[in-house]
Amino acid sequence: MTSIHQHRKDEHFFIAEKLYSDEVNNQLDEVQLIFDNLPELDLNEIDISTTLAGKKASSPFFINAITGGSEQTNKINYQLAKVAHKANIPMACGSQSIAVKNPELRAGFSHLRDINADGFMIGNLGAGHPMANFKIAQEMINADAMELHLNVSQELVMPEGDASFKWEDNIKNVIDNSSTPLIIKGVGQGLTPITLEKLAKIGVKYVDVSGRGGTNFVEIENQRRKDKELFFLKDIGFTTAQALIAAQKFDGKFSITASGGIRTSLDIVKCLVLGADNVGISGLFLHILVKEGPEALYSKICALKSEIKKIMLMLECKNIAELHEKDVILSSNLLSFKEQINNKRM
Ligand code: FNR
Repeated sequence: MTSIHQHRKDEHFFIAEKLYSDEVNNQLDEVQLIFDNLPELDLNEIDISTTLAGKKASSPFFINAITGGSEQTNKINYQLAKVAHKANIPMACGSQSIAVKNPELRAGFSHLRDINADGFMIGNLGAGHPMANFKIAQEMINADAMELHLNVSQELVMPEGDASFKWEDNIKNVIDNSSTPLIIKGVGQGLTPITLEKLAKIGVKYVDVSGRGGTNFVEIENQRRKDKELFFLKDIGFTTAQALIAAQKFDGKFSITASGGIRTSLDIVKCLVLGADNVGISGLFLHILVKEGPEALYSKICALKSEIKKIMLMLECKNIAELHEKDVILSSNLLSFKEQINNKRM
């Protein structure tokens, strides 16, 4: 029998896919790269490897948290894990909270490790879970890294969502007691500098700023409300470009993952130039898998890798570290945002 929690997982998947659009508003189109017409490079010299949660990753992008825990979403997860294995890119599963609460569902997540035995696998839980649950989730998939998500706006719009968000001590406890690298992530509303300041203080090193512009969980949860009356909250977060620009003042304190509405190799490179070490993709990969199947998703991943190399060559960058040294031109909107956010006392 399907539980309420499993039903919610299915609904998230259906509504995210229903709302999917190729058109995004993550503001990366307002970031202009500056190419070099005389790059003095050969495509074979370009190295796209990077780090993710402090560990080596052969690709600068990965399959970010999506799903798992119901019959239907487990199937999606297994297909994603097969593609991640074949393409040799990291993959995060969706929240394992459902399996922490229901031990009979743990095997469904553990199977991801059978499929992707030696791959880079990332577990996922909400930031309210105590250390004991974190350990269960990590061991469930023998995770190389764990994501803890901050989804306050999602919970507050969710009809059956949480009302208490005292998470800081909990995150600190996990950091102090776990040897598994921990990524604190948003869910498509952007982590702001107020949050990053707090995270830096408690020793967080890895963050996924997960900005607005792609999958929007405020919108998804509002669709699940009878009267859909909280629609106006969907644009409350920072866009992906804004979140990355705002995070720049923490230079060196975090290794940054970018996510939120990534659609093209150019989006990925722009995020890397804006300071990210790697890029997470959920909505686009889910959409390709559902509409065209696993082979098409594998081909898309191969194409992205090859296109990233071409764009890096045009920028005269041999590796990701060189991308971080590049300047960009910002739209007047983003430039004004940058000036204002940097003048705030945070
Ligand atoms: C998500 N995302 C997500 N994030 C998380 O930390 N735990 C989760 O369980 C889920 N579940 C989930 C389900 C579905 C169907 C989607 C599409 C996404 C959020 C995801 O990891 C990412 O932060 C946002 O979706 C923004 O990226 P995209 O989708 O715009 O690439």
